[in-house]
Amino acid sequence: MSAINITPLGFAAGAQVTGVDLRKPLSNEDHSRIHEAWLEHIVLVFPEQDLTPEQQIEFSRRFGVLDAHESQAPSTLHPDHREILVLTNKMVGGKKSGTYNSGRNWHTDLSYTSRPAKGAVLHCKEKPPVGGDTMWSNLYLALETLTPPIRGLIENLEALHDVSMIRGIEQRDPADVAEMKRRNPPVIHPVVRTHPETGRKSLLVNQRIRRFLGMSDEESQSLLAMLNAHATSPEFVYRHRWSLGDVVMWDNRCSCHVALGDFDQTKPRVMFRCSLEGEIETGRFADNAAGADRESMLQAVAAVS
Ligand code: SIN
Repeated sequence: MSAINITPLGFAAGAQVTGVDLRKPLSNEDHSRIHEAWLEHIVLVFPEQDLTPEQQIEFSRRFGVLDAHESQAPSTLHPDHREILVLTNKMVGGKKSGTYNSGRNWHTDLSYTSRPAKGAVLHCKEKPPVGGDTMWSNLYLALETLTPPIRGLIENLEALHDVSMIRGIEQRDPADVAEMKRRNPPVIHPVVRTHPETGRKSLLVNQRIRRFLGMSDEESQSLLAMLNAHATSPEFVYRHRWSLGDVVMWDNRCSCHVALGDFDQTKPRVMFRCSLEGEIETGRFADNAAGADRESMLQAVAAVS
């Protein structure tokens, strides 16, 4: 019988999972309990794990296909395991890491691609003595608590997601920034999306949206500010204070998150992330709507790489 214990950590999201050693292959029973809890609580925290990259990859793979990281600058990937994105504020190859200030505005992973991630598994390898927390928001609740007139307004709305809206991207190494922009042309997604497993609808808004389609800039900015403020209201948020060895797994199909820069930047913060590839391609490219599918974009990137 499974020894797993699931304890809620927050009202809107977050649960702690104990009684499982992620270094070992998951039994089918443990896998189903975790999967069920993931759908229910959106963010799962597995404390006191100490995984090798191989073990993190193996665990993540049980929940979906791993993202091949075509959208990322190669210098930001683990040198021996391209399935792992290294989020670090340490120097890499004698220069500032391309991820030193990653995640500093509210976002849903890879919404600047046509296939936002299904989820992610983040492992805390080094952390500052205080701060460096991460917050997640439940976007089901964000949608469900909108009033009917606003819900009507956004039901069929689409938004332009743009990698250049990543907060602090311009402070990164220019070669990394150019690479990120080249790999990720602006992409359009619906504002209301349906979770492929739960069938529940959620609000896909975040701070990496440039504008809504068919609206003036003024209308777009006002509506976006209102929706973003609503979507990240404290009552929808779980805030995680990291401990070394934590593994946190989130459902990216109904949430957004932000990595807080509230720590001494001279202290290392290192996280290894595996992303799960989205099951559905919900986006279409803005600039070349006629023929720009993911394949042709990737071929174009490969041709000039
Ligand atoms: C992310 O935005 O995926 C990373 C979150 C973090 O570093 O806390």
